Amino acid sequence: MRKIKKVFVAGSGTMGMSIAQAFADKGYEVIVYDISEVSIKNGKKLLGLNQGALIKNGKYTQEYSDKVVDRISFTNRLELAKDTDFVTESVVEKLEIKHDFWKKISSIVDKDVLLTTNTSGISITAIAEAVKGPERFVGMHWFNPPHIIPLIEVINGDKTDNKNTEAVYQLSKDIGKKPIIVKKDVPGFIANRVQFTVLRELLSLVEYDVVSLEDADNVMKYGLGIRYACLGPFEIADMGGIDTFRNISDYLFTDLADDKDGSLLFRSLVDQGRLGVKSGAGIYDYEKGKAEHLIKERDEKYMKVCESLMY
Ligand SMILES: NC(=O)c1ccc[n+]([C@@H]2O[C@H](COP(=O)([O-])OP(=O)(O)OC[C@H]3O[C@@H](n4cnc5c(N)ncnc54)[C@H](O)[C@@H]3O)[C@@H](O)[C@H]2O)c1
Repeated sequence: MRKIKKVFVAGSGTMGMSIAQAFADKGYEVIVYDISEVSIKNGKKLLGLNQGALIKNGKYTQEYSDKVVDRISFTNRLELAKDTDFVTESVVEKLEIKHDFWKKISSIVDKDVLLTTNTSGISITAIAEAVKGPERFVGMHWFNPPHIIPLIEVINGDKTDNKNTEAVYQLSKDIGKKPIIVKKDVPGFIANRVQFTVLRELLSLVEYDVVSLEDADNVMKYGLGIRYACLGPFEIADMGGIDTFRNISDYLFTDLADDKDGSLLFRSLVDQGRLGVKSGAGIYDYEKGKAEHLIKERDEKYMKVCESLMY
């Protein structure tokens, strides 16, 4: 694969903008493409907010931040992808929109350009159906906010050439991330399968009035979250003793939630328009107009955790 200097980021939303920053931080020239002028305007605002938080937390000087921002340009012209060396897509999570985008762009860029999608869970193989040269199409799943969270899942589609998966894995390492390889294209990849397993169990315990929503959050924040930030579940099992873990799994696995219908609570909240921070209320209530402040506070906490773990 060719040497990467110029990166094409499609989508200037929550993910695309922050991914652009992750590349610009490592010296890559980045073009951010979006079909919507409003989204480009919002993307520029998000870039300013993210840079402000990095400066405030002592990660960047103003001068360094200016250099990072200078490496990022914006466009609504797809043809500018022509002389870029790497494409990463974060457009809306709809297969037909992704197909339309990939059909066009895979004919514009050169044949040796690696193509990656940040889909949260649509099959890489299904998106690849629209790609000219599906062997160079790889899942590259980042975690919000991508310029802070180290993990990237690198996913093999059925038609992906392994050497291209390896190249995306290596690129992720080169930009200072902690990638893992998802060897088979399964729904939800790895992290979302785990995240939704945790959610399904906690939603069930709340529904049966075993625990409150607040305390369910506390179990993760003050116990499991701290452990998992330091050790993986298999490392924890080795520390605890495999015999003990086997005994627990023997009686507990049969009792765990296995609901297949989706969450009643989530359905009812959506029906009430309680969509979370962005709508002023979700599972909890938020003061109107506080979303920006809460996101800043979240990012500061994430940065501190990453820093203390030396990521
Ligand atoms: N938000 C998350 O936490 C998260 C995490 C991991 C992955 N993802 C995935 O990343 C992708 C983007 O998510 P987001 O949260 O940034 O969404 P978003 O709504 O913030 O941004 C999507 C952007 O895509 C643009 N867009 C729509 N159609 C387009 C097209 N044809 N060409 C170019 N741009 C187009 C929109 O104008 C918008 O700016 C989705 O596939 C999502 O599943 C999201």
